Amino acid sequence: METTDAPDNGVPILIARGLWKIFGENPERLFKSDLKNESKEKIQEETGLVVGLRDISFEVQKGEIFVLMGLSGSGKSTLIRVLIRLVDPTAGEIYIGGKEICALSEKELMKFRRRSTAMVFQAFGLLPHYTVLDNAAYGLKIRGVPEEERKKVALEAIKTVGLEGWEDYLPSSLSGGMQQRVGIARALAADPDIMLLDEPFSGLDPLIRRQMQNELIQLQSELHKTMIFVTHDLQEALKIADRIAIMQDGAIIQIGTPEDIIANPVSDYVQEFVQDAYPATVLTAGTIMEVNEPEIHVWQGPKVVHTLIHRSKRDFAFILDKGNCAVGFLNHKALDMLIKDGGDRIDQAMDTEFETCTPEMTVEELFPLATASPHPIAVLDDVGKLVGYIRNHTIIESMIQEWPENGGEDKDV
Ligand SMILES: Nc1ncnc2c1ncn2[C@@H]1O[C@H](COP(=O)(O)OP(=O)(O)OP(=O)(O)O)[C@@H](O)[C@H]1O
Ligand SMILES: [Mg+2]
Repeated sequence: METTDAPDNGVPILIARGLWKIFGENPERLFKSDLKNESKEKIQEETGLVVGLRDISFEVQKGEIFVLMGLSGSGKSTLIRVLIRLVDPTAGEIYIGGKEICALSEKELMKFRRRSTAMVFQAFGLLPHYTVLDNAAYGLKIRGVPEEERKKVALEAIKTVGLEGWEDYLPSSLSGGMQQRVGIARALAADPDIMLLDEPFSGLDPLIRRQMQNELIQLQSELHKTMIFVTHDLQEALKIADRIAIMQDGAIIQIGTPEDIIANPVSDYVQEFVQDAYPATVLTAGTIMEVNEPEIHVWQGPKVVHTLIHRSKRDFAFILDKGNCAVGFLNHKALDMLIKDGGDRIDQAMDTEFETCTPEMTVEELFPLATASPHPIAVLDDVGKLVGYIRNHTIIESMIQEWPENGGEDKDV
């Protein structure tokens, strides 16, 4: 499996190791047979067992939004449920906040779920005869929080999701988007260590859905919750995810940042998912830049520089100072002229005007720079050192989408 390390700015709050879920009678028999590594279809044909999850391992960092994506039936809902043992795994280990989830008794498990987790489902999961306020406070009620306290917290959460004034209404008088906000308010009020969201926005119409995504991002920038979020929608995943795990037939086949997944899909299946993504909003300068080699410094003589540029099979170079900051752009024509005229310092021939960017800038942001200067764009790190450069045609090429043979028809995902 292709993985990208989780951002190392914290401790993993969730660790899953070797998780399997086999549906059917006496599922352990699969491990004793040599069919374990066969395809899901073959296993089902030969044994009647359904592979829900296959050898899943991953970690989620505190404060991360970890998105699960995959075709229908790939195991997303099973995985999110197995993590808090709403479905028991057939094999494997789960640790949340250092607790070994599979070792908990039924009673401990209930307590753990109530205290540390909150789930938001596609179909809202609201109690129809409870008001908005009571729905939002429900997680705290089952946790035994006194009424006054839980109402205070729930009111705060209702405010956070923008439903102030709707506290006393029943869910039936709210639109789908508003009901989904109540679901999220309930999860927020419970202040869990982990929020599990199974396609929470998929019942909403596109405009409301985009709005909910923006609100979630806004919320997250203030609250830094850990979320495991299931979606079918690539744009949604790219927008909200810190990292995305792509699932196929019960297995995770790639984990990475949105950018990793777009830039390096590990298989045709992943490629299918990402081909409709608009790369300009995801690809960054750091991904498409060329490395600046060899390094050429301003004190080097014109003939030496000529040889270095020639050997590097380029017709230009960025010229560096002592601290490896770019001080000029030199193209080979200007250098040839300098040598012909007997000049002995390359700074006499270099152009000190060129555009710069940081490795994090997206292709979309680079585009105006590419049109502003005839020279490649210099990519500088945060102390101003030159780390690479991007030629203008690379930017244009990376903006052009490759369409699949079927013309990019909607996929049945
Ligand atoms: N209770 C069950 N009994 C038998 N098989 C099951 C059960 N629950 C899930 N499965 C099977 O496990 C596999 C994964 O299902 P799951 O619902 O996790 O997929 P999903 O990725 O969430 O799909 P969707 O996008 O449609 O929600 C499927 O093959 C499904 O048929
Ligand atoms: Mg599902």
